[in-house]
Amino acid sequence: MSAIQPPAELVWWKQPLDKVEGTWIGIALVWSLIMFFMMPFWHVYGKQNLSSEAYRTTPQAYMAKTQAMVDQYTIRTETSAQLPVVRPPPGSDVYLLGRLWQWWPLLELEKGQTYRLHISSMDWNHGFSLQPVNINTQIIPGYEMVLTVTPDTSGEQTIICNEFCGIGHHTMLGKIYVTEGGR
Ligand code: CUA
Repeated sequence: MSAIQPPAELVWWKQPLDKVEGTWIGIALVWSLIMFFMMPFWHVYGKQNLSSEAYRTTPQAYMAKTQAMVDQYTIRTETSAQLPVVRPPPGSDVYLLGRLWQWWPLLELEKGQTYRLHISSMDWNHGFSLQPVNINTQIIPGYEMVLTVTPDTSGEQTIICNEFCGIGHHTMLGKIYVTEGGR
């Protein structure tokens, strides 16, 4: 019998199972179960899975909180993009918003300090992807994601949008500057 021809016995599920076929089904089943239980296992014991919190919000309420932080803690403006660079106090709540097609504002954090990083969208679904540390989360309007982050390397990190959000998607870049402590 070939795979091109229709099976000679149309009621194929009543045919006896070949030993090789049964073995492969068994291997596939065991492997899929291993992969399934790896997910909760790595969430607890791996270091790559991020625990995050999510709360309901509205774009207006979230904008107000972000604006308040920007008004209070802006230290400079990046002239090329006219974006405020905000340096919130170590250990504080930090607000970042995604909108078509921008991450706002730019942030400056201190190495070794822990922050609660809030992120929400003003309009559509965006994807927060922080490089090179490779932190990824979905950013959905109406929800406020909270990630607890402790930057451990100083330098410049780039936020890219990894959820297609329209014509300017590829230009939706943000920055987090991580400075050495005690500046
Ligand atoms: Cu925002 Cu793609």
